[in-house]
Amino acid sequence: MTAKAPPAHHDPAEAIDPILKRMFSFPRRHFLSAGDLNAPQATDLLDLADAFVAFNRQTSKSLDILKGRTLMNLFFENSTRTQSSFEIAGKRLGADVVNMSPRTSSITKGETLIDTAVTLNAMRPDLLVVRHASSGAASLLSQKVSGSVINAGDGQHEHPTQAVLDALSIRRAFGRVSGLTVAICGDVLHSRVARSNVSLLHTLGASVRLVGPPTLMPAQAERWGVTVHHDMKTGIAGADVVMMLRLQLERMQGAFVPSTREYFRFYGLDREKLAKAAPKARVMHPGPMNRGVEIDSDVADDPEISLIQDQVEMGVAARMAVLASLAHRLEEHGQ
Ligand code: NCD
Repeated sequence: MTAKAPPAHHDPAEAIDPILKRMFSFPRRHFLSAGDLNAPQATDLLDLADAFVAFNRQTSKSLDILKGRTLMNLFFENSTRTQSSFEIAGKRLGADVVNMSPRTSSITKGETLIDTAVTLNAMRPDLLVVRHASSGAASLLSQKVSGSVINAGDGQHEHPTQAVLDALSIRRAFGRVSGLTVAICGDVLHSRVARSNVSLLHTLGASVRLVGPPTLMPAQAERWGVTVHHDMKTGIAGADVVMMLRLQLERMQGAFVPSTREYFRFYGLDREKLAKAAPKARVMHPGPMNRGVEIDSDVADDPEISLIQDQVEMGVAARMAVLASLAHRLEEHGQ
């Protein structure tokens, strides 16, 4: 028999107190874009998320902060980790969680969305988590419902809670975000993760580089206040964080890359390319990974280098912080 490690906190109140002390009201009714947060607000959110990390490491993980609230997960696009982490986050906070995966096949997307929004609103959800293939979908929905909408990914546009969990992972690994250099590499063109990360990382004082082939770089990406590189080794030279993106093959019509083998040769992260980054550089990936396409398993699975598992853990804590602070705001507004 193996001895069970004692829980981090014997008295549950020890872990709840820091949460309650750091509780704050989300600055807006909805969380649609990483730009919804300024630096002090983002820092408050990360501090609250940190308290949830400690709480989540205990044996007993249930709170009643969202007791009586209904959280709806409305995923028009497939998702494993984002949907399950919102579900776990909602349940740990004591909400009633409903998962909906509507089919979009026959009706045009605009109609489906507005119809669905009006129908769902009649069921009075307090928190509505939305993922949709069209940019702007979460924003459109937020105009039709009375609760809070959280954008869990709208097309190629934004995925703000991913940026929060990434910032949390970075801050825990380095003790700060400000002053770091983050290289975001790969299929930037199709990536909502990249857009939200550029925004929040800038807010928190990091400098950001985008690295990828010209075919996968948005036109005028320099306007985002980043430097753009097409050579991986120069792009990641001296970077503290190398954030890899998935090659979003499902969003590509036609050939954006000659072959996945060739892509790996030039843009796949392996130890040889990583050697150009800062000596203690850490590697990130939002998942799901295409191993051997954008990242080598040898790098992805090395706990000394990779933050990928931390990102999954931070996903739950970051979403608990977002949900709790949005609900706090609803309460303050008598909702
Ligand atoms: C990302 C997404 O869906 O935008 N994944 C995620 O949220 N876990 C990135 C991706 O799909 O590559």
